Amino acid sequence: MKTITMLLAAIAIGVLAAIGFAYSGLYDVSASSPHGGFVNWLLSTTSHASVERRASEIDVPNLDDEELALAGVNDFAGMCAGCHGAPGQEPEAMGQGLNPPAPDLAESAAHMTPAELFWVTKNGIKMTGMPAWGATHEDAALWSVVAFMTGLPELDADGYQRLLTSAEGFGHHGVEVDESGHDHGDAEVASGAHAHDQDDHQPAQSGDESTSESDSHDHSAHSHDDPAPNTNNEPQEDGHDDHVH
Ligand code: HEC
Repeated sequence: MKTITMLLAAIAIGVLAAIGFAYSGLYDVSASSPHGGFVNWLLSTTSHASVERRASEIDVPNLDDEELALAGVNDFAGMCAGCHGAPGQEPEAMGQGLNPPAPDLAESAAHMTPAELFWVTKNGIKMTGMPAWGATHEDAALWSVVAFMTGLPELDADGYQRLLTSAEGFGHHGVEVDESGHDHGDAEVASGAHAHDQDDHQPAQSGDESTSESDSHDHSAHSHDDPAPNTNNEPQEDGHDDHVH
């Protein structure tokens, strides 16, 4: 009985000390210094285990599709490279000030499964700069970014630039990735040009069952973007692009 009382008292003191520490202001929350050793271990272990567990329930579609990766490279350049960098390209100022830092996704893709890459891309990671892209994007659009990321470990700076050139018109960030975000009108043209482009590509690929399936995925992602300039999606995307540039 006495042991139990002592144990409860010790727990109560521990909880009070933790609450006291939270109110004390002693912990340095600045993003200019990294988490200390134990906190770092605790957060990264919790995060990895959480991602691994949740990703194990995801069904991965066929990602071996060139059009999917082409749509993905444009979306990656528009939505991810600013923080994570890209082959031959450092992160932008915003990405350089992040703590925890946004990792080089070529390294991440080398040790994470496609399901894990998808889960993090869709859901983000709490208390870090990693946003939940699922809040504004259909799964199909995010799978195309995952399809691109699976090729990142083998992609050098030249290969990345070549891919960007051949991907013009694919993905919802497909046209004029660098400028379009600032202007609603441009964004509309981008979506239109994209849909047209895909139609052009379809006949050549129509024999392939998996290609046409992912095409329809891609279209469904876009029909989400297309209907009206003032759907929820549009202003948010503009906001995002304004941030990046
Ligand atoms: C605003 C900055 C920012 C943007 C934009 C961003 N990320 Fe991240 N991302 C982060 C940060 C920070 C982390 C590290 C989180 C952590 O340490 O737990 C991260 C982590 C990740 C990881 C986990 C990597 C690993 O090794 O554990 C993946 C995958 C990822 N991001 C994919 C993406 C994709 C795909 C996009 C674009 C659709 C994107 N991110 C856009 C900041 C960003």
